[in-house]
Amino acid sequence: MSTATVAEVVGTARDRVDGRLKVMGTATYPIDVALPGMVHAVLLQSTATSGRIRHMASDAAERAPGVLAVITHLNAPRLPRAPMTPIGASPMPPLQSDAILHYGQHVAIIVAETVFQAQEAAALIEITYEHQTPVLAFDDPRTYPVFHEWTPDYARGDATRALTGADVQVYATYTTARNTNSPIGLFATVAAWDGDALTVHDTTQWPHGVRESLAFVFGVDPAGVRAFVPFVGGAFGAGLRIWPHVILTTLAARMTKRPVKLVLTRAQMFTSIGHRPNSVQRLSLGANRDGRLTAVEHVSTSALDMADEMINLITHGTSDAYACPNVSTRATQIRLSIPVPGSMRAPGEAEGSFALESAVDELSYAVGLDPLELRIRNYAQVHPATGLPWSSNALLDCYRQGAERFGWSARTPQPRSMRSGHLLVGYGMARAALIAYQPACKAIASIRRDGTAFVRSGATDIGTGTYTVMTMLAADCLGVPIERVQFGLGDSAMPKAPQEGGSGLTGALGNAVEATCIELVRAFVSRVTDDDASPLKGCRMEDITVRNGGIQITGDPARFETYAEILTRFGLDEITVEGESATPGETSPATVIARAGRFVPFTAPSTGARAYAGAFAAHFVEVHVDQDLGTIRVARVVSAVDAGRILNPKTARSQIIGGIAGGIGMALFEETVSDRSGRLVTLSLADYVVAANADVRDVDVLFVGQPDSMTAVGTKGVGELALTGIPAAIANAVHHATGTRVRSLPIAIEKVLGQA
Ligand code: MOS
Repeated sequence: MSTATVAEVVGTARDRVDGRLKVMGTATYPIDVALPGMVHAVLLQSTATSGRIRHMASDAAERAPGVLAVITHLNAPRLPRAPMTPIGASPMPPLQSDAILHYGQHVAIIVAETVFQAQEAAALIEITYEHQTPVLAFDDPRTYPVFHEWTPDYARGDATRALTGADVQVYATYTTARNTNSPIGLFATVAAWDGDALTVHDTTQWPHGVRESLAFVFGVDPAGVRAFVPFVGGAFGAGLRIWPHVILTTLAARMTKRPVKLVLTRAQMFTSIGHRPNSVQRLSLGANRDGRLTAVEHVSTSALDMADEMINLITHGTSDAYACPNVSTRATQIRLSIPVPGSMRAPGEAEGSFALESAVDELSYAVGLDPLELRIRNYAQVHPATGLPWSSNALLDCYRQGAERFGWSARTPQPRSMRSGHLLVGYGMARAALIAYQPACKAIASIRRDGTAFVRSGATDIGTGTYTVMTMLAADCLGVPIERVQFGLGDSAMPKAPQEGGSGLTGALGNAVEATCIELVRAFVSRVTDDDASPLKGCRMEDITVRNGGIQITGDPARFETYAEILTRFGLDEITVEGESATPGETSPATVIARAGRFVPFTAPSTGARAYAGAFAAHFVEVHVDQDLGTIRVARVVSAVDAGRILNPKTARSQIIGGIAGGIGMALFEETVSDRSGRLVTLSLADYVVAANADVRDVDVLFVGQPDSMTAVGTKGVGELALTGIPAAIANAVHHATGTRVRSLPIAIEKVLGQA
């Protein structure tokens, strides 16, 4: 960039700019939206798990007080299925036939003046099902594997042969449970039609996706569709795509000609917004006696529902993980009678890294090496799948500094060798990585005559701190004090932004915000450079520095003018420009994943050099296991993280803590359970246990590494990196504490009880 930017706020620890709104209860989440004339909808969901609706009687419901519409497969219009989105499927349009594919499938939406009237009416609907035996297990003879074009097999060298000839071999099978995103904010949709124009408030990570999908399904011009979500309420991947209930709410509004609001119940959250499907993974490792990996084979099977598509990247990280000449991976999916899965907190990476990093820990015992030393020995100096350089990689610093901070050297190698009173103490660690993902993004920026700046983009802030870090970035790029900068998002009328997903929005949106702010400064420079009245006359972009709400000639504080002065002199209220990111690589998921299932390298805009960009971390965990009760406590975690440039250490640290909390939940508690008929039994936060404050104790976050040179803002992604690797680090620590290797998540008490 040519303009000299003074990094005054970026890199400093800042409170959330939206913190006060949230604390005061004035942040508007979709669940808070109320429109004039708005009526309420509730969903009726299938209690059958497979089969068809034989008979449905809704007349009593239709006659019930306050009821405006009862929409079922018998009276719903035929709706088309929207095309695949970059992150996978669009939902099957709901209520299109009598077929029941899973428990909790929507079978009716009931609209009434009040939510209670809608609930009462829903209870009056009579349904008779024709039940079929659901397909619930991978070994059901009716199943067959689905190989997804977006997750193709991978191979380099000859892993099978190298395994056979290896000095040391590890063969192990790992399983991960079905998990369900449980954000505190219940997913809500409010839809209002005005002719063919649609306004929709929706819990989503992608307003532009909601707009385009609904325009397609209802056959209207996307220009007339506007989606809002200024505050999300948590999503963790559940808001990356639209869901059938969003289509149904929009349909209900169209049929009743009233604004309609739908709020999912907590129980419906378990069947309606996706989940992390369960997996079985077989890992085969071969190594020399000195611990150098010679072969890695990773084969995974994960669950898919009967009708949807989703990319599952379980084996995706394995080819890039270690310097190993022979690697093969294969990911298959099996269709079961389960609710539609979806993205959840480091989807695929979280499960895959559990298996790989557990297996590497097992190898450390097989070769008699410290698990940290084993990983250092197998560190990949270059991107192992291609031999290209890393754009930046401070993983060795993560290992060393993390170990130092944790006190890893106090670990005695033998399992069951460390104790604290009646508690068994275990130290475990794992490596984590996440390929940087920075798709194209647009923004718009204005500076007004009062000296304030307003920058916006149709992105979202799912709680990660997007409002805050983008306000900081814009303040520095424009040289406007942060109190005078406002950042707007969550509105599809704003320039197109990608989902807040793949831990990539800070980079993608940051690139767009930076590029747009530079264009805005350029617009001011082009005005004053020919202006006799300006002290900046004759200046070019490369001559200037932005600060104190204006522009100065670099090194000459006397030649300075505020934006407000310039606007006043030209008689302008504001200058506004639109801009878009210089995309550092071909990183739209569709192209990226289609190419052999791997991310393509980034290209440095200035030099044309190609390299792989990724974020790295080393997680160190101490667990305490009660010998008598089997209870497992994560006593402390040290995470050393190389995520490139950290825009705001406070919100970034919060991201890591949040990811670790998710990792502890996945490791120890979270399991979505069905009964033998395929009905979900964990339908509340009492039954589906997530990590609470008492489970997340001492978390120490260490940022190492440098800003990445390949991306405009130097970031590499934070959130999902924190979850990735934590379940393995905990499992490895449990093994070190107890001598019991638990290869299936969650590590419930009964899996160590009696063995501890
Ligand atoms: Mo994340 S699962 O990419 O929202």
